[in-house]
Amino acid sequence: MDVYEALYTTRMMRRLRPDPIPLDTQARILDAAVRAPNGGNTQRWHFVAVDDPKLKGEFAQLFRQARALEYEKFSSGTGPMAVAAPGVDAAAHAENMRRIKGSGNYLADHFEEIPLLLFVFAIDDLGGANIYPAIWSALLAARAEGVGGVMTMVLRNCEDKVNELLGVPVEQGWKMSAMLAMGYPRGRWGVAANRLPVQEVSSRNHWDAPFGVEVPQPLWPPQDGPETVLTAVG
Ligand SMILES: Cc1cc2nc3c(=O)[nH]c(=O)nc-3n(C[C@H](O)[C@H](O)[C@H](O)COP(=O)(O)O)c2cc1C
Repeated sequence: MDVYEALYTTRMMRRLRPDPIPLDTQARILDAAVRAPNGGNTQRWHFVAVDDPKLKGEFAQLFRQARALEYEKFSSGTGPMAVAAPGVDAAAHAENMRRIKGSGNYLADHFEEIPLLLFVFAIDDLGGANIYPAIWSALLAARAEGVGGVMTMVLRNCEDKVNELLGVPVEQGWKMSAMLAMGYPRGRWGVAANRLPVQEVSSRNHWDAPFGVEVPQPLWPPQDGPETVLTAVG
């Protein structure tokens, strides 16, 4: 797969089929993930793949409780999802959250069917910077394999229970960074078009100065007709 296709179309997939992900596919996904950059190449990461139905059932209960807590925070205007980016219309943010909640409900309601839960742990992850390259590589490699997934954080609301269920040696400093729910998607892959364009989130030499070029629409897939014209500004 073309690297740009993977970059543009690796959406978060929450509607997943129960079909198992073969072990060799899982191996390719994790083997790609461990190639990711990491500070000092210390590789202080650990991945726990969960496919045991009984254990998945326990995580399903936990996930639904943790998610309820997250949405309580959101409704009271706290937590990371509550506030839109500066300058972004609050109504547009609320609509976006409504859509995410809808597909999140599906994931929560069908949690037991998810074929693979990939728990990602790190020691001292530098606010996530030291682990998210590996997580994103896993999701990109999964995309190349036709496997979809969504990165979730809500189980961090009950990390003691997660650590207990998985036997995590917390005394060594391991901390859960995320849980990736993975499986073959029910829907189709599409371009992540719902993003602010480059010129609205970038500048050159000074915060308020134009970046220098405007990108009117996603540059992938390449157009059949005349190429998208990039307008130089400033
Ligand atoms: C750090 C991080 C945490 C996230 N946590 C969750 C989560 O707990 N649950 C969830 O359903 N999606 C989660 N997501 C996925 C985002 O909601 C998703 O990337 C965003 O809505 C854009 O959707 P798209 O990537 O499909 O275009 C998370 C993404 C990131 C990067």
